[in-house]
Amino acid sequence: MIARSLAAALAVAAAGFAAPAHAQDVAAGEKSFNKCRACHQVGETAKNSVGPELNGLFGRKSGSVAGYNYSDANKNSGITWDEAVFAEYIKDPKAKIPGTKMAFAGIKKDEEIKDLTAFLKQFGADGKKK
Ligand code: HEC
Repeated sequence: MIARSLAAALAVAAAGFAAPAHAQDVAAGEKSFNKCRACHQVGETAKNSVGPELNGLFGRKSGSVAGYNYSDANKNSGITWDEAVFAEYIKDPKAKIPGTKMAFAGIKKDEEIKDLTAFLKQFGADGKKK
């Protein structure tokens, strides 16, 4: 009995540690994503607009969203989006992918990029929160 409740307590603790990000990072990231919303959508109803939808971004190859008309620069960049390359890109998109048609100056603050990453990471390829 004691062993069982100990196991349950450990399971709860482990689940806590496994949480991908702190809630306040995600909330701050959602606010930061307002800078992207004019051109990008995420979530279950996301569609391509000015830019491609950003569901399941981390692990995705650049230029791979079906039905979106990418620039050659983006399509041929050879990037697979992970946290590090995303951070570099979003700081200065035109420096990371010269010739991209994403007209966005960039986000300079590392903290804000971290929050934005936490927000975007929630969404799986199907747009559902993981
Ligand atoms: C003014 C419109 C605009 C804004 C604002 C904008 N983007 Fe983009 N974004 C684009 C376009 C257009 C592309 C496609 C670029 C290409 O094909 O060259 C793109 C491409 C991307 C890609 C590459 C996707 C892929 O599938 O390879 C990522 C990642 C991205 N944007 C993230 C963001 C984030 C995060 C923000 C907000 C911080 C943002 N963008 C703000 C227009 C925008």
